[in-house]
Amino acid sequence: MADADGSRTIDDETLERGLAAARDVRARAHAPYSRFTVGAAVVVGDGELHVGCNVESASYGLTLCAERSALAAMIAGGERGGDLGGRVVLVAISTGAEEPTPPCGACRQWLVEFAPDAIVVAEGGGGRREQWSVAELLPSPFTGQGLER
Ligand code: THU
Repeated sequence: MADADGSRTIDDETLERGLAAARDVRARAHAPYSRFTVGAAVVVGDGELHVGCNVESASYGLTLCAERSALAAMIAGGERGGDLGGRVVLVAISTGAEEPTPPCGACRQWLVEFAPDAIVVAEGGGGRREQWSVAELLPSPFTGQGLER
């Protein structure tokens, strides 16, 4: 859905469904090193929902964030990356931090590629929420358009 100014809006039911799924899957996070658990849920236009959590590695730099984990689950679930267009309507993120935390830089790149028109909402442990468009999170992105294929 879009407002008169073209910006995306999200209905309350989808927002609450996405956040509830992100909260639930956070319990499955594997974060023995940072102890910072994150859950994420991706909602596609037809209502389909995919979830992911952060998965840390003993080789710390190999850690996978919750947002990319959820987007990978979406691709594995049959959504075709190259044809996605604006199909992802919501990416919901849940952490235990007091304040809501926006996605990291690597996840922002994936969001541009797999969920460019989504609303991204983060909820902190205190229940406060913040939301952004993907363009707000990563202006002037690299989209791969210049790549030879
Ligand atoms: N993390 C996420 O899952 N998403 C983000 O956007 C930021 C960070 C995870 C990675 C690591 O397991 C932990 O949070 C601390 O950085």
